[in-house]
Amino acid sequence: MKIGVYPGSFDPVTNGHLDIIERASKIFDKLIVAVLVNPNKTPVFDIEERVELLKETTEHLPNVEVKAFKGLLIDFMKQENAKVIVKGLRAVSDFEYEFQMALLNKKLEPSIETIFMMTNSKYSYLSSSMVKEVARFGGCIEDLVPEKIAKKVMKKLNKKYAETEENK
Ligand code: PNS
Repeated sequence: MKIGVYPGSFDPVTNGHLDIIERASKIFDKLIVAVLVNPNKTPVFDIEERVELLKETTEHLPNVEVKAFKGLLIDFMKQENAKVIVKGLRAVSDFEYEFQMALLNKKLEPSIETIFMMTNSKYSYLSSSMVKEVARFGGCIEDLVPEKIAKKVMKKLNKKYAETEENK
């Protein structure tokens, strides 16, 4: 069984992430979306929320699993018996950091490969940080995050929106 792992912070999942997940799920027998519990960062969405949003987003994909992980990615890979890390590349600016991570992971565990998928050009500008900024200032995030979770993301990030929804 070919298992791929798509790791990230997913704070929150965007349409760009979903595009990579859908395409990668066709390449592997099983794709694990691995959500990092990072003690050095304070995410806006806690680990349970990030996992839940991803589960909702991917419920139409039967071979996709969503799991949280702590520590080194390669240790999680070994635990899951997976050999391939899947990463998305949006622009040349992503390359240097991704290249460094891929080489470091290769150094730590030579049997594990990293493969890169180019993002759909529709989403090349998109990031979780952009989504948070747009939502905080009341902009429309409908085409930026999966439709199913747009309301939840707005509720979390925009107080005014949350109050209006509560009064409906
Ligand atoms: O969505 P992000 O924040 O760009 O994802 C980064 C992630 C989670 C893929 C990366 O930080 C990671 O793999 N962290 C786990 C710790 C680790 O294995 N570090 C060594 C390789 S960089």
